[in-house]
Amino acid sequence: MAIISNCTASILKDAALALKEGHLVAFPTETVYGLGADATNEKAVSRIYEVKGRPKDHPLIVHISSMELLNKWASEIPDYAIKLARAFWPGPMTLVLKRTELVKDFITGGQDTVAIRVPSHTLANQLLKEFESLGGYGIAAPSANRFGKVSPTNAAAVEMELRKFLSNTDRILDGGASKVGVESTIIDCTSALPTILRPGDVTAEMIEEVLDIELDLGSVPSKEIKAPGIMASHYSPNAKVYLSGTPSPGDGFIALSDLPTPEGAIRLASPKDNEEYAQILYKSLRSADSMGLKNVFVVPPNNQGVGVAINDRLEKAANK
Ligand code: TXA
Ligand code: MG
Repeated sequence: MAIISNCTASILKDAALALKEGHLVAFPTETVYGLGADATNEKAVSRIYEVKGRPKDHPLIVHISSMELLNKWASEIPDYAIKLARAFWPGPMTLVLKRTELVKDFITGGQDTVAIRVPSHTLANQLLKEFESLGGYGIAAPSANRFGKVSPTNAAAVEMELRKFLSNTDRILDGGASKVGVESTIIDCTSALPTILRPGDVTAEMIEEVLDIELDLGSVPSKEIKAPGIMASHYSPNAKVYLSGTPSPGDGFIALSDLPTPEGAIRLASPKDNEEYAQILYKSLRSADSMGLKNVFVVPPNNQGVGVAINDRLEKAANK
């Protein structure tokens, strides 16, 4: 298993072929890096679960290159879902829809729905196109981290996280640092109105504006829906994360750049705004672990824009 940095067209063709043959390919997306497998190949998909150490009943997101393939995977597509797809795909949004015959239990953990996303990262999109030109229908890809851990936002983080578990026929494509930095917004589209299951860079306000509706943000997603990303504890580094209190000397510290570093604390990140906060959060949490820090004190951002998603992940990271 190697990191491939100069992803030329022929390397992407080769990676698509490897996927078709049942190997795993980790690839960049604009949100975080994904660990990809042919979404119709049960053996390949079961390797994703092994490599991640993820329980089998946690469903995966299927990635496709464009809306045109949506009908292959989803059977009942409400008008509002089409509007969302037109507005935000390709991009950091995942739609949960009723599944078609093509979708097997090994992708959905037995649920009758399927999660679909069209990523905007050029490499991801080209890989999907190559894969589809070989007769593939979609690439299943969870975030390329061990279960419950911090998602990787660059190729080196994927390697560090998974190298022990990948084989030499698998590969990691390097497409630079993920621009958004937190996972996609997941929207349940199986009812009369959409529900956000996981906040992301596509915000509630953006959805409300496109659909000209008001979302019920108070409604807690059904317990029936098995989504590790919406479990109370997830996205955890080895260090303990605190969202209040004062760091002692030697503790890690993450806050917006206008906040000074408390005496003796180790500054891990100073983002200038919420967008940059999202971009560098996971990398900073990883750096705490590579420095062997026991504690990280994080000053959460406000809830503007992607701030809602950052706060969602921070609460889960602190909830270890
Ligand atoms: O940004 C992202 O979404 C990244 C990149 C690689 O695309 N992927 C990602 O995948 O975050 P993962 O597996 O780490 O998280 C996917 C989430 C999980 O919480 C899963 O339970 C939920 O999507 N999910 C998948 N299928 C679902 C379904 N049918 N119903 C409800 N939730 C579902
Ligand atoms: Mg994940």
